[in-house]
Amino acid sequence: MAKRIKVFDTTLRDGEQSPGCSMNLNEKLEVARQLENLGVDVIEAGYAFSSPEDFESVSAIAKLVKNAGVASLSRALNKDIDAAYDAVRHSAAPRVHIFLATSPIHMQYKLKMTEDEVVTRAAAAVAHAKKYCSDIEFSAEDASRSDKAFLARVFSEVIKAGATVLNVPDTVGYSTPDEMAALVTYLLENVQSMDKAEISVHCHNDLGLAVANTLACVKAGATQVECTINGIGERAGNASLEELVMNLHTRADVYGGAQTRVNTKQIYLSSKLIQQITGVRVAPSKAIVGDNAFAHESGIHQHGVLAHRETYEIMTPQDVGIPQNKMVLGKHSGRHGFKDRLAELGYHLNQQEIDEAFARFKVLADKKKVITDGDLKALVAMKLDETDTEHVKLHDFIIASAKDRATATIYLMLGDAEQPREVTDSGSGPVDAAYSAINSILGEPVELTKYDISAASGDADALAQAVVKLRRGDKTATGRAKSTDTIEASILAYLNGINKLW
Ligand code: KIV
Ligand code: ZN
Repeated sequence: MAKRIKVFDTTLRDGEQSPGCSMNLNEKLEVARQLENLGVDVIEAGYAFSSPEDFESVSAIAKLVKNAGVASLSRALNKDIDAAYDAVRHSAAPRVHIFLATSPIHMQYKLKMTEDEVVTRAAAAVAHAKKYCSDIEFSAEDASRSDKAFLARVFSEVIKAGATVLNVPDTVGYSTPDEMAALVTYLLENVQSMDKAEISVHCHNDLGLAVANTLACVKAGATQVECTINGIGERAGNASLEELVMNLHTRADVYGGAQTRVNTKQIYLSSKLIQQITGVRVAPSKAIVGDNAFAHESGIHQHGVLAHRETYEIMTPQDVGIPQNKMVLGKHSGRHGFKDRLAELGYHLNQQEIDEAFARFKVLADKKKVITDGDLKALVAMKLDETDTEHVKLHDFIIASAKDRATATIYLMLGDAEQPREVTDSGSGPVDAAYSAINSILGEPVELTKYDISAASGDADALAQAVVKLRRGDKTATGRAKSTDTIEASILAYLNGINKLW
């Protein structure tokens, strides 16, 4: 029978850890919901001990998710393990994920521990976690730079203590496919009681080999792969889920038919959601989910594909959920057509979400003749732009813009005030002027660390999607907003971020 590969998604932990990818609770819940639709086996929801906010989000995800396991990361310390289990205990399939470094460089300089001390600590931590939870993953951090006999010794001891998954991270993305495969083969042959646990791999992309390394390990016998949507993660990121899954899907001949339970048709939507939430867009040439991944530009290629698709296409856009039927909606489209199109795009929305999105659709359809799939995705994602409380609201704005200078008059409603506050300021462009005016009104400037504007579709009246990252003291927030007016989207995104910071 073909081997089943489990997908352990760490978008919400390793992914969220990467610069500019932090998410708030609502955003994490939305991602968890989508990961469940996607069909991953385990969602690593965060690192519960690291902060009360992390604890709360891991716990909320554990309560929400029904069709995937939920894991929390934990150092090999009892206080971490207690928090990790406490956060995941309401999950249908809780997992505690303990890590401890095993490479000489980490043991000597970071842990300041001997080999024997590492073995003892690892086994004791797993034994402590096992008192609460049957499913324990143990990660030997920097495994790929560890002495392999020592690694086998650590793994043998943690299996004795109750570990069910042994994870082999290439923490610094240093290994090659041959080396990773040889390591997995060695471990399968040398770890004692290997029949009681499975081997997992966790590869980073510093040398661009995360996916290749992971696939080499699958060939060598690993049965769990750790990955993130769009490959987000520390530094150059983690192995990308969509690339791993589509390699196994497309090259079943090479991987002995090994398959995941991922619904590939949910891949595109998952990728878009992460881009939307983090504001980190993938390159157009990114495999599987980039804008050009299925675009055939040259005449020769187009002719070939039209004559016989497989001349230039090894998988179809439909396989990953990119809708082909370019049906558009407009002012006169009804609720049914709207709902059907959302379903065709892969959304699983409840009645309330459909009603809210339909109300936004009606407003947009009054401004814009044709509503494209890109607009629809933006409309659905708009619920993520809402904040619980709006301390600062846009009342109105006036922009005067010339070639290299602009002025903005901004009217803001602050708190419960009945009249708007008004300030005019100037800047090098309209957005700069508007942000200066907002800062003057608030009196407490926030630092803008990132600004991004994109169009939801290719037409001139497309919905503009603005994403900003703001910092105030040690707090950061991502602000997002959409409007058919680029300046309005930019102003609203800034205020959205400010409301989250306050
Ligand atoms: O890269 C790494 O080593 C990790 C571990 C905590 C699994 O993320
Ligand atoms: Zn990692």
